[in-house]
Amino acid sequence: MPYSLTGKNIALGVTGSIACYKAVDLASKLTQLNANVDVMMTDAARQFVTPLTFRSITHRPVVSGMFEADSELSINHVAIAERADVVAVVPATASTLARLAHGMADDPVSATALATSAPLLVAPAMDANMFDSPATRANVDLLRQRGVYVAGPGEGRLASGLVGRGRLIEPSEIVGHVRILLGRGGDLAGRKIVVSAGGTQEAIDPVRVITNHSSGKMGYAVAEAARDRGAEAVLVSSPTALADPTGVRVVRVGSALSMRDALYRECADADAVVMAAAVADWRVADVSDQKVKKGGADVWSIDLVKNPDLIAGLSSEDIVKIGFAAESEDLIANARSKLLSKDLDMIAANDITAEDAGFSSDDNRVVILDREGAEDRLPLMSKYDVGAEILDRALPLFRSPTP
Ligand code: PMT
Repeated sequence: MPYSLTGKNIALGVTGSIACYKAVDLASKLTQLNANVDVMMTDAARQFVTPLTFRSITHRPVVSGMFEADSELSINHVAIAERADVVAVVPATASTLARLAHGMADDPVSATALATSAPLLVAPAMDANMFDSPATRANVDLLRQRGVYVAGPGEGRLASGLVGRGRLIEPSEIVGHVRILLGRGGDLAGRKIVVSAGGTQEAIDPVRVITNHSSGKMGYAVAEAARDRGAEAVLVSSPTALADPTGVRVVRVGSALSMRDALYRECADADAVVMAAAVADWRVADVSDQKVKKGGADVWSIDLVKNPDLIAGLSSEDIVKIGFAAESEDLIANARSKLLSKDLDMIAANDITAEDAGFSSDDNRVVILDREGAEDRLPLMSKYDVGAEILDRALPLFRSPTP
């Protein structure tokens, strides 16, 4: 689900670790998202990867020394630091963390980190024993106290062959952390947005479920769009193949009833709920404890009972209620009737028979209806952009004043 970082300046400080190869991938991912990526390298980093690699990927000069004639940094020591929206030190070695903690500025990475007023992210990478050492711990604590954003490290197999905590987290996760920093102070800062996603699963027996075609992409995209604007974003998600988005709390559920419990708990202190989940209207009346055997019968009938309507059960006095309507006919009429019967502020109607939108696709085409009778037909766009459009319209509807 790529969405643009156009116009964002990311200063990427690369320091000497075998994990430098992941910094190459990170630079590539950020560049593909249209960010301006200024790479700075320490001498040790250049032992692992050449500046040419980063220059080829970012199409920008790479700063690899303090005193290079053509280095912008040597002419104007703070140029990159000043224009950066985020300074990310990836990977950050133990010795770099020590230098940053103690205000050293003897290489282009630490000098930029010291000179910037932009948020500073460090993603540690080192052997587990080095990360666990009292010195590194103290340095990380000191950096955290000063507001430095420490992303990782992760656990797993390390270059030394040991298994432990010290692995650089994955570049896609680091992109998520960069987005969180870019979104700080956004127009949803201080707001809690709960989003439901995926198709609920109604058990028949311990093996079989009744479910639907929802992939969860729509809900996950709304949650990411909320996160990127500074919100506390919570996903109440039925099983999907999607990875947990960085910086979004994911509450896993299965059936409509379990989704209801988690949803109501999360909505108790939320500002808005966006119900992108495809919730089963019916559940199996008698769920079998044992796997139902095929036997000799050619027909198997299952009794279903109605599930409660989850969004209808939330009070619109306390929370902005936004639904989706998945329709295969009479899109607008059916969606408007759901808007009214469920007492929603807004509903995004999508035609689930369209081939390029609706279930599973990366894009969606919705018509947004509101209580006032507005009918806003949006063109085909990414699900992330649909989320952004919905959140734009939710902004003036919050029940409590700006935090
Ligand atoms: O997950 P994707 O593959 O990305 O697909 C996205 C989507 C097509 C699932 C999504 O865009 C969408 O339309 N979600 C709503 C699906 C749905 O259940 O629509 P509905 O028309 O049946 O229900 C209307 C609204 O009431 C929905 O917000 C639904 O979450 C909610 N509802 C429905 C039944 C129920 N028992 N409780 C509810 O709260």
